[in-house]
Amino acid sequence: MAKDVYAHHRPQWKTHIGFVLAAIGSAIGLGNIWRFPYLCYKNGGGAFLIPYFVALFAVGIPLMILEIGLGHKMRGSAPASFASISKKWEWLGWWQVIFVMFGIVLYYSVVIAWCLNFFFYSFNLSWTNDPNNFFFNEFLMVSKGPFDIGDLRTPIIFSLMAVWFLNWIIVFRGVQKGLERANKIFMPLLFILTAFIVLWSLGLPGAKQGILIYLKPDFSRLKDVRVWIDAFSQIFFTLSLGFGIMIAYASYLPKKSPIVRDAFTISVFNCMFSLFAGLGVFSVLGYMAHSTSKEFSEVVSQSIGLAFVAYPKAISMLPVFSRGFGLMFFGILVIAGLSSAISILEAFTSAIIDKFHYSRKMIVSSLSVAGFLGSIIFATRAGLHWLDIVDHFLTQYGLILTAILECVALGWIYKASKLREHINHVSKWNLRRWNWDVSVKFITPSALIAILVYSLIGEFTKPYGGYPWISIIIIGRDWLIYTLFSAVIVASHPWKVEPGSRVFEHESL
Ligand code: PHE
Repeated sequence: MAKDVYAHHRPQWKTHIGFVLAAIGSAIGLGNIWRFPYLCYKNGGGAFLIPYFVALFAVGIPLMILEIGLGHKMRGSAPASFASISKKWEWLGWWQVIFVMFGIVLYYSVVIAWCLNFFFYSFNLSWTNDPNNFFFNEFLMVSKGPFDIGDLRTPIIFSLMAVWFLNWIIVFRGVQKGLERANKIFMPLLFILTAFIVLWSLGLPGAKQGILIYLKPDFSRLKDVRVWIDAFSQIFFTLSLGFGIMIAYASYLPKKSPIVRDAFTISVFNCMFSLFAGLGVFSVLGYMAHSTSKEFSEVVSQSIGLAFVAYPKAISMLPVFSRGFGLMFFGILVIAGLSSAISILEAFTSAIIDKFHYSRKMIVSSLSVAGFLGSIIFATRAGLHWLDIVDHFLTQYGLILTAILECVALGWIYKASKLREHINHVSKWNLRRWNWDVSVKFITPSALIAILVYSLIGEFTKPYGGYPWISIIIIGRDWLIYTLFSAVIVASHPWKVEPGSRVFEHESL
């Protein structure tokens, strides 16, 4: 009776809020704090909220419902869930969890490590008056190109060890004692610290101008396709969709679960957090422009530059409380990053447990060591180049491709209607064919295909980031291909217990 044995052994969230917080923890990450506000500023301020919310409601939430519904129905990680639909699709689940575990989390952990370093640097504002020079030349010591690897950056290696140690200890302790407990501490702490920082920054001189620039709508920007593409890609990344994470988290839910309501709560909360955090980011930048009498465009910068150059500069200039502010800001980044990194580790761990039945402790320990070793390349002097190239390929192509395939597998092969019936059976808020099925079968895949084609055209016209073609091919494209190969190989291994035997009793596939 493999069925009952399995059902008993599958871990379950202790509380419902534990699941919601863990899913929000995965969704809220570095991207919410440093990517979203900048995208908004660049793409028409408040006007960007139109494509952003269109993307959220047209594809983000429907796909969130799909992933939670799938994991819940099949009670399995991504590979197990896809294999339950058809063995022919198992590789897709593996591809998702492999490219995120042997790709994204490797450099994501290094960025968390940088944040940890900067957390400690905040004690004496070590970045001096020239944070740009400090970050690129003294801290990262960036080399000339991706193949000029140089030596390891010792301070980064130490904090990287700490990050992997934390990843390990949390996931090692399992769903209830590890992931759930950690998120129950992390999330309230994150919200309190962020609220404090935002409210405090709103009182700074120049804050109002900063916020005006952040949110003042320029509707003419909506004619630019790039703005729409930015909105749709951001929604995927920020909701952690297409990585197999939400599927794994939902597989630990009990039978009666408000799937649709949860998907709304997680997605809307995540986006509101981004919007709110942006108020803090732009107030501080507004203050900096105000006190240096510079144009706003001179003080703002994107992603890494925003967190490690513009922000440290602003922190040093604060009239009071600068050290405390630095500690809080980098503390927030560390917490937001860690709660996402552990979700990646869990997505992969649960996949291996499902298929090979190894013990969690053994898998998590080996994975954490492998993850640390794999991260090392990003902690060398060439790390920033590698990070830039790998991130571009995995998020622009890997993520988009797997999400398209996910829609095909579930919307067309398995049939969206079957999954809809399951979701409606267990959750109070009901889905309707006219909005949900249409989104999963038509709107989402078409939007994603458009993004893919548009990105591909840009890719061939000039090498990404001005790097030599050879480095783009070896580091970027091949990284994707290797993960795909590994996925196909793992998928071809036989199962110990057939997938699909874990569905709730009295249900069929
Ligand atoms: N959603 C996270 C963010 O916005 C990113 C993330 C990517 C999380 C992949 C988990 C997995 O930063």
